[in-house]
Amino acid sequence: MSLRTVEWKDNTVVMIDQTKLPNTLEFVTFTDFNEVADAIRTLVVRGAPAIGVSGAFGLALATLQSNTTEKNELITYLEIAKKILFETRPTAINLAWGLDKIMQVANECNSVEEIREKVITTARKMADEDIEINMTMGKIGSQLFDDNDTIMTHCNAGALATVGYGTALGVIRATKDSGKNIKVIATETRPIQQGSRLTAFELKHDGINVSLIPDTAVGYTMANGLVNKIVVGADRILRTGHVYNKIGTYQVAIMAKQHNIPFYVAAPLSTFDMKSNPEDVVIEQRKASEVTGIGDKKTAPDGINVINPAFDMTPPELVTGIITENGIAKDPFEESITKLFQAN
Ligand code: MRU
Repeated sequence: MSLRTVEWKDNTVVMIDQTKLPNTLEFVTFTDFNEVADAIRTLVVRGAPAIGVSGAFGLALATLQSNTTEKNELITYLEIAKKILFETRPTAINLAWGLDKIMQVANECNSVEEIREKVITTARKMADEDIEINMTMGKIGSQLFDDNDTIMTHCNAGALATVGYGTALGVIRATKDSGKNIKVIATETRPIQQGSRLTAFELKHDGINVSLIPDTAVGYTMANGLVNKIVVGADRILRTGHVYNKIGTYQVAIMAKQHNIPFYVAAPLSTFDMKSNPEDVVIEQRKASEVTGIGDKKTAPDGINVINPAFDMTPPELVTGIITENGIAKDPFEESITKLFQAN
């Protein structure tokens, strides 16, 4: 995947519309931060690092939307835009990280012109750095994978979940590029199929041997020796090593423990939340229609009660290692993660 998931072009934000994949590759162009917020909310763009950069680009658009000449007025306008962008998705910490970073840059500027220039430059730099970080993480993580491994992944932590290359799929790409012969098992990832629509699409496109399984076949593939390592991405990781990722990740980790299969997480340092405790993390609840139908086809009775959390938490005791751009964190996680941050 050499395309960028989200990009700044001629003072607009251009995104791949992921809701249309794998059937059509369509791009959408935005000039208003409210459109970017809608795109994040409706999963036109998704995946923690991709929404972090999208949030930053949203604020970059906001600097152009306001026609004030007063710095303080522009900052007030940006604060309003930040709140609207922030409230789109509560679990992935990268969104807050991207928005905070841009607000810090804006606050340090002396004029409206300087804010516009520096905010746009910073957001573009964040996008470029996302790819560089993923490639570094891929190289570091590839050391954990061997020739003839079959690696399971859940959801989509690929080029499409980032600006490019991917976190978990970046590790898979780097492992293949290092000359190792690997296979991948991708879970379908109900209810909205990021595994079948996006991961299978990306890996097949790159010529990586990938098999798709229903989420319900995770136990079967492990019990029958069809998978020997796992790598997933993350939406938020606490300093204690608690990992928040796509709903179903916890089940994969529990079953991996039962079958003695190493369970790795790949995520940049921007996915770490060093302040919160598990009780502080808000798990996004999504609409019932994602579960009561597939596409336009109804698969459940009208009026049925639905519980549809988008993410779950995998506790540190189920995690073998966390791959970052600064190295691999292992148990005891708090100590190990703190060291990775000190290396910065
Ligand atoms: O709801 P989504 O599609 O945004 O969820 C994405 C995931 O859970 C990914 O695994 C996570 O964001 C890591 S992406 C590199």
